[in-house]
Amino acid sequence: MQRRKFIKKASLISIGLGIANKAYSKNYKKTNSLYNNITPLVIATWDVKNATKKAWKIIQNNQSSLDAVEQGCMIEEANENGQSVGKGGLPDRNGNVTLDACIMNSKGDCGSVVFLKNIKHAISLARKVMEDTPHVMLAGIGAEEFAYSIGFKKENLLTKASKKTWENWKKTSKYKPVINIENHDTIGMLAIDNNGNISGGCTTSGLAYKMSGRVGDSPIIGSGLYVDNEIGGAVATGLGEEVVKTVGSFLIVELMRQGHSPQKACEIAISRIVTKSDYKNFQVGYIALNKQGDTGCYSIQKGFSMTLCQSNNNVNIKSDSYTT
Ligand code: GLY
Repeated sequence: MQRRKFIKKASLISIGLGIANKAYSKNYKKTNSLYNNITPLVIATWDVKNATKKAWKIIQNNQSSLDAVEQGCMIEEANENGQSVGKGGLPDRNGNVTLDACIMNSKGDCGSVVFLKNIKHAISLARKVMEDTPHVMLAGIGAEEFAYSIGFKKENLLTKASKKTWENWKKTSKYKPVINIENHDTIGMLAIDNNGNISGGCTTSGLAYKMSGRVGDSPIIGSGLYVDNEIGGAVATGLGEEVVKTVGSFLIVELMRQGHSPQKACEIAISRIVTKSDYKNFQVGYIALNKQGDTGCYSIQKGFSMTLCQSNNNVNIKSDSYTT
């Protein structure tokens, strides 16, 4: 490109960024407590202190951030009281629990499983896809068969409680995303280990009462999760369709690459969604961290939170939101 054209293009990009800044700054509250600048650390979507505690223990044991996020996510997948992740997750319209998950390591490798039935630890299977296959993503029966072939156990994921909730829903069969479903939606986790390496994981049973075969953002690398070990990582929760449309997690990492803090990057990514859609009826939340250990979280609606485990403190932090 000729020099003059290049300069013109660069100025337009700057103006564009200025507009984006304006859109989010009216709601931007500086949350200094989120700027800790200390590693190692673990962050996760929602109030999942047991999960972050587990991940922290792994890191204290000098294991990798990859082990930490896998084992942290497994805690929620095994928690039958959580109706949005793993065993006990709410089913699709036909009463089938189907899971989506992905994982990404500090080398940029990733693995993902979608529309997975009968296997509780989708996050571990995603790791196996990454490490033991030439592929990034396995779906449905193929993912399930792969799981059995390497020793995963078949399990009924529909608990009595979730079956009852589904049966009540069937009386009206009204399909509508529920904002902050039980204050606990997709679990996404990011960790920096003692070597400064970043990994991330994301696991969900997806939208309750979704159409059979529906896949959300959580197993889509770049949408539900993205990690770049040079820059940082981001992970999403909430209505996956909206996250996919804006490739939210990749966007946040790229914004951090351009120099934005994790907090500002999350806010810009949310502003992308609210300027494009009727945001009043759904929730999306992001969390992010950068290589230095700064963190951020932001959501469209009130009620989102992030759990942060750092220097042995395991705390839940209320997120700022676009709507107040
Ligand atoms: N964020 C989870 C989903 O939409 O499936």
